[in-house]
Amino acid sequence: MFTRREFVAAGLAGGGAVGSGIALAEGLTGQGARASDRPADVVLKPQQINHPVLSGITTKGMMSYAPAGPAPVLRMKQGAVFTADLINGLDEATTIHWHGLRIPNAVDGVPFLTQPYVYKDERFRYAFTPPDAGTFWYHPHCNTLEQMGRGLTGLLIVEEPEDPGFDQDLALNLRDFRLGDDGQFIRQFKPRLAARGGTLGTVMTANWRVEPRYEVSSGGLLRLRLAATDVTRVYRISVIEEDTQATADVRVIALDANPVPAAFPLEVYPIGAGQRMDLAIRLPREEGKILRIETQSGAGPRLLATLIARGPDLGRSFAELKPLPPNPVQEPDLANATTLPFTFSWSAEKSGVESICGTLGYTFWAINRVPWPGDVPNPGGPLAELKLGQSYIFRLINETPNSHPIHLHGMSFKLLRSNKRKLMPLVSDTALLLPNEHMEVALVADNPGDWVFHCHVIEHQKSGLTGYVRVI
Ligand code: C2O
Ligand code: CU
Ligand code: CU
Repeated sequence: MFTRREFVAAGLAGGGAVGSGIALAEGLTGQGARASDRPADVVLKPQQINHPVLSGITTKGMMSYAPAGPAPVLRMKQGAVFTADLINGLDEATTIHWHGLRIPNAVDGVPFLTQPYVYKDERFRYAFTPPDAGTFWYHPHCNTLEQMGRGLTGLLIVEEPEDPGFDQDLALNLRDFRLGDDGQFIRQFKPRLAARGGTLGTVMTANWRVEPRYEVSSGGLLRLRLAATDVTRVYRISVIEEDTQATADVRVIALDANPVPAAFPLEVYPIGAGQRMDLAIRLPREEGKILRIETQSGAGPRLLATLIARGPDLGRSFAELKPLPPNPVQEPDLANATTLPFTFSWSAEKSGVESICGTLGYTFWAINRVPWPGDVPNPGGPLAELKLGQSYIFRLINETPNSHPIHLHGMSFKLLRSNKRKLMPLVSDTALLLPNEHMEVALVADNPGDWVFHCHVIEHQKSGLTGYVRVI
């Protein structure tokens, strides 16, 4: 772990923690110059901006990785080195975590665990090679309810080496903002709700817009990437033809960046905070036809965005698409796997838990009865130690009547079974546990380091539902 003093040294040296990534970059390019002297592929500068989320009203104090509008969609190639410079333009510390990417621990972006804080005007270089293709996202791992709540969430696309053959590729960053009637931010959470399902936003957006409309090619094939970057909301997506109210011609092709083994109806897997879903949509052949992308909420369907068909009928069909190749995730050895139970429950403790960078001042939740780091013999120690290369079954036990999207950094797992539903063998980084669901997932502990394991409902994470596993 980094101490404040170590951080100063690392900060002056330009971020010692990314050393392994830089070495890799140099190896691949064969250049003599230090990799950190070369410009990064992207510069991400978190900063406060003003932006009209609601038409005609400027919301002050939003946060973005760009000087205007939402964070950029980052694109990179599977197996190719990518570098990003974080230059902190905020008045508080931050870091960047690359959600779902199986990359070295030193570039995972978790303060204290994997790197020092990056303070105002400081630079930190992230360099890594994404091993998997698909739809991912990036966000801070510092004061996250505030920083993410104000807008610091961006999409990250890792392209397959071979183009699957879509006519268009559209990425939607789905999230809410908590704004009052005057369009200004209100408190990010209510303690009463943080102790339950979490506090929902007041304004639903896609790419920071309310019900945006996108023009798409009539009769074409669209790859629609949906990312639930909200701090709380579970999305239950449907795609509906506006005039007939019939379900559109849609196939789920990937969940959490990994191709699905077989087609399934959209509603089977809701996506919780942190999750992504890639859809193939055969667009209406007739110009002017509209598709509605909706989510089911307690109050009925809510519109997220619409697609309107434009131009001559391209006459495409699903059969023309190349299937997405599976990502190179190791198959767990179930016969020799060790089972580790993780119980998610309400907490009996009263005082505020100190979670990694930024506490909410409350403790509502616990993993294995301990609101981390809490009152344990080794405060701040790992929830479990995993042996490098060994297979493990994580038994995820949700003892609460709320849903929890449980996310593991640095490694992907395979869904095995549930006490509530039949699961497909999906590969994922985030398991959405339904109320009182017990789920088993399996993985090969193939990435050394300390990996955060937490609920992605940020209020839950910040009030007890977080910890980490150590792979050595
Ligand atoms: Cu989206 Cu700790 O992660
Ligand atoms: Cu993550
Ligand atoms: Cu939760």
